[in-house]
Amino acid sequence: MYQVIDGKKISQEIKDELKEKAAAMAKGGKKVALAVIQVGNDPASSVYVRNKKKACEYIGIESLSYELPEETTEEELVALIEKLNADAGEKGIMVQMPLPEQINEEKIIQTISPDKDVDGFHMQNVGALYVSCTPLGIITLLKRSGIEIAGKRCVVMGRSNIVGKPMAMLLLRENGTVTICHSKTQDMKEITRQADILVVAIGKPKFVDETYVKEGAVVIDVGIHRNAENKLCGDVDFDKVAPHTSAITPVPGGVGPMTIAMLMYNCVEAVRLQKTER
Ligand code: GUN
Repeated sequence: MYQVIDGKKISQEIKDELKEKAAAMAKGGKKVALAVIQVGNDPASSVYVRNKKKACEYIGIESLSYELPEETTEEELVALIEKLNADAGEKGIMVQMPLPEQINEEKIIQTISPDKDVDGFHMQNVGALYVSCTPLGIITLLKRSGIEIAGKRCVVMGRSNIVGKPMAMLLLRENGTVTICHSKTQDMKEITRQADILVVAIGKPKFVDETYVKEGAVVIDVGIHRNAENKLCGDVDFDKVAPHTSAITPVPGGVGPMTIAMLMYNCVEAVRLQKTER
């Protein structure tokens, strides 16, 4: 029988721990706040932003909402971020992606002060590896589910800057033996079938079936898609793969809730580490 890794439950535990931590910090005169910036009203982004604000409210993080019109220019957004960077008050800053096409996302990411960048997207934070919400959430899921990483063969499918690359580096830091597969990889199944821990982040609905998976492997599904019946599914075909695993994350309720919990974690940590005077 396989274990279904419960991201909802583990993310709730983390949010409860953060609630206590934020309350203790507030007592000591450090109030945690997060500037949440959304440009335009992409429906998926609005859902993410709403969930992030809800998580802030639960934990006791003040969310400062900046909803800018679709036609906002890059200069205007840069000016807002620079103003927030220079603010004396400690806070995290988060700009919801994607941005409208007149705005260069990379430019925006690199404008956010690294010590306020709770997404962990800034070059300096990518290098430091202490942030990156989704990969950090996956490591936390594995650890809190009692799954050992050290010495295991870990295969990451996907090499994005937000998930695949930082995921591989974090697994390596935990002493896994790590391989990355991507769209140009030859004999992909040959490699994925060696994995004790398989992390799938390729953005293709139900791409991974049981032929990619070694018997008894741990499978982590980062994908989230809506199928023709408007139901959510991941990059992994759960029904086909689950019986061959020892543990697997569902979609929804696996990796997704962890990303927001780790964003909150990063926000509390960022404020804890920030100097009061800037
Ligand atoms: N858009 C999709 N995922 C994310 C995320 O983790 N952070 C931000 N800022 N935008 C996103």
